[in-house]
Amino acid sequence: MADVIVTQSGPVLEIRLNRPDKKNALTGEMYDAVEAAFKRADADPQIRVVVLTGTGDTFTSGNDIRDFQARAATREGIQVSPFLNALSSLTKPLVAAVNGAAVGVGTTMLAHADLVVAVRAARFVMPFTSLGLVPEAASSLLFPLLVGYQRASALLLLGEAIDADTACEWGLVNKVVSEADLMSTARDYASRLAALPPEAVRQTKALIRNGRPDVPGRIEEELALFRQRLRSAEAAEAFQAFMEKRKPDFSRFS
Ligand code: COA
Repeated sequence: MADVIVTQSGPVLEIRLNRPDKKNALTGEMYDAVEAAFKRADADPQIRVVVLTGTGDTFTSGNDIRDFQARAATREGIQVSPFLNALSSLTKPLVAAVNGAAVGVGTTMLAHADLVVAVRAARFVMPFTSLGLVPEAASSLLFPLLVGYQRASALLLLGEAIDADTACEWGLVNKVVSEADLMSTARDYASRLAALPPEAVRQTKALIRNGRPDVPGRIEEELALFRQRLRSAEAAEAFQAFMEKRKPDFSRFS
């Protein structure tokens, strides 16, 4: 079975992250597949809405840490940039159905979704600093706007996790539902959006988005730092600790 499954049902394109044995950790190939699906949705007039979800108990555990390590070692760039550009410039509405933990980019990507449904067991965490990294997907810009400066600092600086009810209260999630109701709720949002006049929907989405400051510029600014951080000794210690299933030790860094 593919790591990303894309299915079309009438006007709705459904993208499913499907690597449950690795908690849907995102590899370069998976970013490419999701990016291609976003581009397909934008190009195909038959597609009016995109739904994004994951298989198993995790929405996604974020970027694959082995991939991070391999790229840092070979000094290769990270593959996330085209995915982030396609996500942030998607013209059709995106409904996210968060089926469990959303880690790192699993949470940052939600600031680009138009409607978010989450199961009660969902957890949202952006542990960038504890990995020796910095935020991505313009989250350093969008989260202070979305949840306020202090809450954004708790999420991004401290890497504090929040549960689904808190995410709903803070405006990151529209609705919290039981596992059994997740896909029916997301598909209900999708079919309601698909039944509306498509140009009015696209223009309204663009108007809502256009109120935000320079998102593409912040994505690039963050990624420039992120690429440096990937090769840092702090990140190397964090990745190695994850692989060895131990707590990282940052005491030697100044
Ligand atoms: N990259 C690579 N592998 C990952 C991964 C990731 N981001 N997240 C999970 N996995 C792998 C684990 O290494 C483990 O592999 P193994 O079976 O070969 O040992 C498998 O997925 C299951 O993960 P496990 O940690 O045992 O599951 P859990 O239910 O106890 O915890 C998470 C789930 C998501 C909370 C936990 O896996 C986690 O914190 N992952 C790292 C998240 C992270 O820091 N992401 C980067 C953000 S920038």
